[in-house]
Amino acid sequence: MTLAAMVRDREVTTIEGVAAHVNLHPVQAAFIEYDAFQCGYCTAGQVMSAVACIAEGHTGSDEEIAEFMSGNICRCAAYPQIRAAIAAAVGAERGGDVRIRRGLDARRGRWRCSPSPAPRRSRLAPSS
Ligand code: FES
Repeated sequence: MTLAAMVRDREVTTIEGVAAHVNLHPVQAAFIEYDAFQCGYCTAGQVMSAVACIAEGHTGSDEEIAEFMSGNICRCAAYPQIRAAIAAAVGAERGGDVRIRRGLDARRGRWRCSPSPAPRRSRLAPSS
């Protein structure tokens, strides 16, 4: 937790500033694609933490993502979808697409995902 007084005179990015103009940030697009929210109460904080999770390189495994995101409470328990969205956004930032093969891993009871083998035209790219 960071108090506002602790960041005085420093630049702060909020959920309103994370997207580039009219294009969603890959994390925002992935949250939509993966239904990573229900009521939406926690979503702004989840997205901002997810952006930091990726930027700081804590996406090596589902467990690492869960550990980094553990400070964000979701009363709707959308955690599996949130982690899947983060993993998808990592793939998108590496040239993939947030529309990633997905499915429920019945053995482990959680979402699995893997990047698309070939980057496709992203919905995030400006239309030409
Ligand atoms: S989506 Fe409802 S609290 Fe997270």
